[in-house]
Amino acid sequence: MNGKQIPSHVAIILDGNGRWAKKYGRPRSYGHYMGGRNLFKVAKSAQKLGVKKLTVYAFSTENWKRPEDEVNYLMTKPIEMFHENRERISEIDYKVTFVGRRDRFSKELLEVIDIIEAETKDHKGFELTIAADYGSYDELITAANLSEKPITKASLEAHLMVKEPVDLLIRTSGEQRLSNFLLWQVSYAEFYFTKVHWPAFNEKELKKAILSYQKRNRRFGGLK
Ligand code: IPE
Ligand code: IPE
Ligand code: MG
Repeated sequence: MNGKQIPSHVAIILDGNGRWAKKYGRPRSYGHYMGGRNLFKVAKSAQKLGVKKLTVYAFSTENWKRPEDEVNYLMTKPIEMFHENRERISEIDYKVTFVGRRDRFSKELLEVIDIIEAETKDHKGFELTIAADYGSYDELITAANLSEKPITKASLEAHLMVKEPVDLLIRTSGEQRLSNFLLWQVSYAEFYFTKVHWPAFNEKELKKAILSYQKRNRRFGGLK
């Protein structure tokens, strides 16, 4: 891995929490708990390696279809974890933002989101964006409705929730699909798929993905 061609914007579809838990004979919720904790570890690694922005897919607009107890866990556990680690929020030295719909979350979850965003908003150099109740169809339809007409690339992009194009898209746990994540932003992204389940994904795995990225020839339609 060379230090010069570090992808500026890395996006991760963090998949496989449930399968990881199953492998160890634990309930799916345990996989989500460990996956949630891993998020901040991997963000720290990305920051250290020189990535500027990391966007992670934590909950899709389609994930509401999951069993009620699983959705409930995913919607309440982060609130509990926030309060348990309240004093550690001030240790976060990068900016944290959330993208996705805000109209289907509880008041308590929205409060947590607001506090984390407010307390980290002035941090520079690295941004962790958490996509929660996010879906590209929703993002693109919303942007199209807000855009001045006739829509141009620039006018649409001005209303997207994620404005920066993705350089490297990683999906953990073996699946090779986008599942409605950043359809517009990955137009020229390099894709990297790994069988490693999200809770086991670490700095070493991130370095492997970046190394693979550095071997690609990005042409953007031209010749190189
Ligand atoms: C990713 O892990 C987290 C979410 C989608 C919320 P999964 O829950 O999809 O885990 P698998 O794919 O069932 O193993
Ligand atoms: C994609 O994972 C969504 C997130 C990682 C939040 P899923 O596990 O929901 O995707 P599918 O259903 O296998 O496509
Ligand atoms: Mg999955």
